[in-house]
Amino acid sequence: MAATLLARGGGAAARALTFGCLRQLHTVYQTVELPETHQMLRQTCRDFAEKELVPIAAQLDKEHRFPAEQVKKMGALGLLAMDVPEEYKGAGLDYLAYSIAVEEISRGCASTGVIMSVNNSLYLGPLLKFGSEEQKHQWIAPFTSGDKIGCFALSEPGNGSDAGAASTVARLDGNEWVLNGTKAWITNAWDASAVVVFATTDKSQKHKGISAFLVPMPTPGLSLGKKEDKLGIRASSTANLIFEDCRIPKANLLGQQGMGFKIAMQTLDSGRIGIASQALGIAQGALDCAVDYAEKRLAFGSPISKLQAIQFKLADMALALEGARLLTWRAAMLKDNGKPYTKEAAMAKLAASEAATAISHQAIQILGGMGYVTEMPAERHYRDARITEIYEGTSEIQRLVIAGQLLKEYRG
Ligand code: CAA
Repeated sequence: MAATLLARGGGAAARALTFGCLRQLHTVYQTVELPETHQMLRQTCRDFAEKELVPIAAQLDKEHRFPAEQVKKMGALGLLAMDVPEEYKGAGLDYLAYSIAVEEISRGCASTGVIMSVNNSLYLGPLLKFGSEEQKHQWIAPFTSGDKIGCFALSEPGNGSDAGAASTVARLDGNEWVLNGTKAWITNAWDASAVVVFATTDKSQKHKGISAFLVPMPTPGLSLGKKEDKLGIRASSTANLIFEDCRIPKANLLGQQGMGFKIAMQTLDSGRIGIASQALGIAQGALDCAVDYAEKRLAFGSPISKLQAIQFKLADMALALEGARLLTWRAAMLKDNGKPYTKEAAMAKLAASEAATAISHQAIQILGGMGYVTEMPAERHYRDARITEIYEGTSEIQRLVIAGQLLKEYRG
């Protein structure tokens, strides 16, 4: 699959490259120049987004329509399982590549960006890291091609930020786990074929009593709540998952019993790089739209890009975006190098999501009335940006994580 991605991006030169080249990324942060392989990947994803997503993003948003055909094409390109090794039918790339790809896809359509991010980071991520060999073979391969996608169920109606307070219960009954409870805000819920779900096996143990389970969808005892009518990312589905005496085989426990909270936290560390990248794509889309409009729109006898008031805005937008991108690439590279990245992923998500909100806000200001109507993508960027400050940990949670890590480092 990596070969497919590269071949599409760079023709003969790309085909000549070996997988070994993909490991060159470690110089990126010193040079702030992407290796050739990653540049080609970026071009491939940009071309795909321009051709397949930009023309339909507004319609998908309007109709709340899941981009099934595009998701399949992304699967064929390797975009749905980017850091999954080839032995499990993944693309065998790294997290920097993943970040670049999510950004480019989200620049075209932020809904498609989160569909991709949830499948890669939140569904396949924990399976890859904590799954047994048997589980990996069963639960990964069918979710790499775009035929099936996965989701991740941690939040509940009564607890979102306080993830350790899970009240969904899993009880062992012979050779089966029996799940009861409701999970909330589940991205991909209506379109998913499996879910990694977190439930407590011992409430008295608080977060240490939480375990992770693999549940096929549909399955008896699991029903979907209504599809949420959202401000943004409307082409991706969001819904509750309701477990009522839902029975799954004992073998569907992911990792060890009681390890669920750590699995969730480590999964979210990676997921936050994905959402940071989604936010970068939204922000880049908004900035591109604002620059293009400023160059073309005439006022007071010349393009408004000649006005300092507009130039100051564009400069601040570009500055916030570039800073957030460097933070995001740094977090991805730390992960790729096997270094701790909890703090850096939180920083990346915080900076990129706040940049996306600010940049899409200013883009509308530059476009004026044209920014406020659906003829231009600016209003969609503005609506799509907002969720990036909320899901996979709010901006307030990211600040807690950053401060917590900072103090831990200080105290040694
Ligand atoms: N990696 C590994 N372990 C971690 C960790 C990490 N990143 N963060 C915490 N832990 C461990 C701690 O070391 C500690 O371990 P011990 O019990 O062995 O000491 C344990 O977890 C508890 O840690 P805390 O005391 O720090 O936990 P807390 O209860 O205070 O919560 C929190 C910390 C950061 C607030 C956490 O609850 C959190 O991240 N909340 C936000 C949850 C979130 O992001 N939800 C989004 C859900 S997904 C989604 O958005 C839907 C979707 O579909 C996209």
